[in-house]
Amino acid sequence: MAPVNPIRVTERAQKLATEILRPGDIAVDGTAGKGRDTACLAQAVGPSGHVHAFDIQPEAIASTHNLLEVAGLLGRVSLHQRSHAELADVLTPDQRGKIGVAIFNLGYLPGGDQDIITQPDSTDRALRAGFENLRPGGRLICVAYTGHPGGPEESDIVLTFAEQQAQAGLHVEKIGYYPTPGKPWILVVNKPAA
Ligand SMILES: C[S@@+](CC[C@H](N)C(=O)[O-])C[C@H]1O[C@@H](n2cnc3c(N)ncnc32)[C@H](O)[C@@H]1O
Repeated sequence: MAPVNPIRVTERAQKLATEILRPGDIAVDGTAGKGRDTACLAQAVGPSGHVHAFDIQPEAIASTHNLLEVAGLLGRVSLHQRSHAELADVLTPDQRGKIGVAIFNLGYLPGGDQDIITQPDSTDRALRAGFENLRPGGRLICVAYTGHPGGPEESDIVLTFAEQQAQAGLHVEKIGYYPTPGKPWILVVNKPAA
């Protein structure tokens, strides 16, 4: 499969999210960063929907807050300065198993400290919690990068998760998967519709 252009990868991931989301949905952005994915999800779920966005860095939460405020989307987003591994802890009982899309754009904050990166262990826990809480027909999207130190190891964890889901009979796509340093790829796992 052809590698995905790094510039286009986030755009592609957002399209994969918005084609699934419906007004009123619950969505999760596991890595808020600059807030662009969060804003995209918030737009897609509409005023009756809700987005939970996570990031461990205060500057990422602040950037996301600012972007959402300017866009008039703040009211439909909960910002959590905590690890996405704790994703399930923030869901209300009626939101469990009701997530339309959970998206994870791994790596480091663009323009930020490149030593603060997503980590294999917490990423693995987050992917599993995100997938477990998808609604029927929901979608998990993960953008994995292999070009920074630690990236290939994390990418392998994402790949193992993908293979386990495929073995369980789920529809799994590895867009642009290419085990070469520097190339991002996108994992897509769909939960079967009821
Ligand atoms: C590539 S950026 C995300 C880009 C973002 N989605 C956007 O639209 O701008 C990755 C982010 O993951 C965050 N991060 C690292 N470890 C994390 C963790 N355990 N839980 C949540 N976020 C984490 C980093 O702080 C960084 O902001």
